[in-house]
Amino acid sequence: MGSIKSPGLLLTSFRRQKLALPGYESLNIVYLTSEAVPFAKTGGLADVCGTLPREVAALGHQCAVIMPAFRSVYRAGIQIETTDISFAIPMSGKKLIGGRLLKSKLPDSNVPVWLIDQPQYFDRESLYGDSLGDYPDNAERFAFFCRAALAAIARIDMNVDVLHCNDWQTGLVPALIQATPQRYPDVNDTTTIMTIHNMAYQGQFPAQAFPWTGLDWDHFTHETFEYYGQLNFLKTGIASADYVTTVSPRYAMEIRTPQHGCGLEGVIESKGGRLMGIINGIDETIWNPATDVKLPVQFDQSDWEAGKVANKRSLQSEFGLEVSDDVPMIGLVGRLAEQKGWDLILPVIRLHVEEARPTQWMILGSGDKRIEDDLASLAEQAPHQVAAHIGFHDALAHRIEAGSDLFVMPSHYEPCGLNQLYSLRYGTIPVVTATGGLADTVVDTTPETLANETATGFHLHANSPFGLDQALGRALQLRYHEKKSWNNLVRRAMAADWSWRKSASQYVELYANATSLNENSLKK
Ligand code: ADP
Ligand code: GLC
Repeated sequence: MGSIKSPGLLLTSFRRQKLALPGYESLNIVYLTSEAVPFAKTGGLADVCGTLPREVAALGHQCAVIMPAFRSVYRAGIQIETTDISFAIPMSGKKLIGGRLLKSKLPDSNVPVWLIDQPQYFDRESLYGDSLGDYPDNAERFAFFCRAALAAIARIDMNVDVLHCNDWQTGLVPALIQATPQRYPDVNDTTTIMTIHNMAYQGQFPAQAFPWTGLDWDHFTHETFEYYGQLNFLKTGIASADYVTTVSPRYAMEIRTPQHGCGLEGVIESKGGRLMGIINGIDETIWNPATDVKLPVQFDQSDWEAGKVANKRSLQSEFGLEVSDDVPMIGLVGRLAEQKGWDLILPVIRLHVEEARPTQWMILGSGDKRIEDDLASLAEQAPHQVAAHIGFHDALAHRIEAGSDLFVMPSHYEPCGLNQLYSLRYGTIPVVTATGGLADTVVDTTPETLANETATGFHLHANSPFGLDQALGRALQLRYHEKKSWNNLVRRAMAADWSWRKSASQYVELYANATSLNENSLKK
């Protein structure tokens, strides 16, 4: 497990507290997030926050989610109720910004989702920005969200034990409570947890944004809000939260280093044993090839070969690729961002096109305009070999996971990664960099791991286009020349249990122990 310093020691002391303090069994947990499936999504944060609260609730706890009422919320096809709860936040000087609460719930659950409705801030086409870049008022928007969420908690009639904050958009919350506990009597002794889904996105703004917090300038210090003269939301959350988690044990180790700490490695270090890595899981109600209604043909471990071929054919005809069962389809779905290793992927696709290698590439992504253009031009150059859909298309993401033979994810860093988990589940062998959650979830194929039947995918042995091409070569070699081993690999990948059950229990253990310790320290 991923506690960084003396994990054994930390957990043992937790257990002792657990025995000593009754009443932790059923906890009240509020999740603060800017994304949750099916209401708003740009990446894996939404998958996690749309599922974890439901899984924790299934373990016998009361959970609720608070998030902004973005425009996409109204398009999610989910019932939304109005409430008579409204509030006004003095944002700067005398500028009062009003908001009201809407209410919905996570599908297949009784977990309420409280939506902060403030059209001026949140009723926009996208969540964080448009083609011109980030929205210039993001500091104001998310400072409002943090303050409005705290105002909402005071009104939703829930005696909160744990406030679980996710990513920079919610990072001010623990520090606001600490700075002005008298303003937040309902939560001023509540345990706060900050989960880092991606260290590279910190929500850093010029100091002039600080007044949006509603605090006096004497609170702008390097212990909390200030980071080298700027306001940094994520740093604030890490520094102020009682506990910090990230989404894989390996990434929890990596963010202590300058390479992956993105300047916050010192703040991370200061948390000592109060940092844990807990791996994400798969929401089986959404990502299961046997029940996935987004697939033309569903399949499971017993009929995977026929099922995958049928899904492949359908993609090939839809996208004008050569229709062939034998040619390996290499799938990619993801943000077109530096993180995901497009600088490795593009040269390899180019090489395969130039050498007319017998491979097919099926790509879905949106983001960086230059990468979009490069992909579009490769697809134009080799329309029967490369298909690229630029945009966000949930159903197509499912179909690519199902129809591909290999899934490529050579990320430069990856806090957890969900696509490789979906690939495993859909019998699509992942080819990944050995970093973060990718290293924690994909077992490299070697003579040893084939022999001891643990292999589930392929690691790059060098983080370069050459390393990626080599890893693909090893995968294709197995597929074409060691069919039996390949079939075992696919079956093992599909059978691996990456459901949320285990990880949700780890979060519950953290909540229980953290609240016990918190209560204990308050009693002192
Ligand atoms: P990250 O959160 O860093 O983007 P993850 O692998 O954790 O990476 O999660 C990405 C999630 O977003 C997955 O559910 C993936 O299917 C989805 N996704 C990413 N890009 C697209 C896209 N263009 N269209 C549809 N789904 C996408
Ligand atoms: C981030 C990370 C990704 C992780 C996701 C959900 O976006 O980049 O690795 O899976 O959050 O935790």
